[in-house]
Amino acid sequence: MPRKIAAGNWKMNGLRANLAELDALAKAHPAPAVDVLICPPATLIAACRELPFAIGGQDCHANASGAHTGDLSAAMLADAGATAVLTGHSERRTDHGETDADVAAKSTAAHAAGLQAVICIGETLAEREGGTTLSVIDTQLAGSVPDGATAANTVIAYEPVWAIGTGKVPTTDQIAEVHAHIRARLSERFADGADFSILYGGSVKGSNAAEIFAVDHVNGALVGGASLKAADFSPIVAALETA
Ligand code: PGA
Repeated sequence: MPRKIAAGNWKMNGLRANLAELDALAKAHPAPAVDVLICPPATLIAACRELPFAIGGQDCHANASGAHTGDLSAAMLADAGATAVLTGHSERRTDHGETDADVAAKSTAAHAAGLQAVICIGETLAEREGGTTLSVIDTQLAGSVPDGATAANTVIAYEPVWAIGTGKVPTTDQIAEVHAHIRARLSERFADGADFSILYGGSVKGSNAAEIFAVDHVNGALVGGASLKAADFSPIVAALETA
């Protein structure tokens, strides 16, 4: 069975003062019935170690160490207290030109350091409107998910680029179509493909979480804006717990 995961991606937001939001979230969910994964900026990972949540990085370098000023290796994230890392978020693909091959290499590096890779994929608005969503998903899955992926070390996050931070959410039929497609592709390629968690991401809020979690093959969410405040993220965790 896929694990249910409520994941929060703080992106480039969060100073030490904002850890109060995670303390408040921990008070509301001292022993969550689903996996809660918080991906704060790397500067806050070590400060999150005592929380009753899994902690993740937002990116890692593909190499284990070396002359790469400003980058962080997967082992460094693990050493700071992370157990997971996002790879291939669309903002990384856009801001830093990351390719599917880069994402696969980073995901393999994450696995080598014992981290779960949360591999992000999703189509742009032009691709959606051009009718190529499923072929884009196929290309990204084939290129970004390394052969060493298992349901234990890898999570797939489907995030339509046009839904990220926009308040626009696909219909539940659109989400269902893509998630079923991802499940089928994972099952063709991996012996445990049925067990991978597949998260939906893009403008998830407390008000739409329950209907998204009711969609087949949606095993949780990757949440940006609504993960920054305990008051916004707590209802999403609760909706997943009862889904
Ligand atoms: P959003 O971001 O929830 O703010 O749309 C989601 C993401 O980028 O992971």
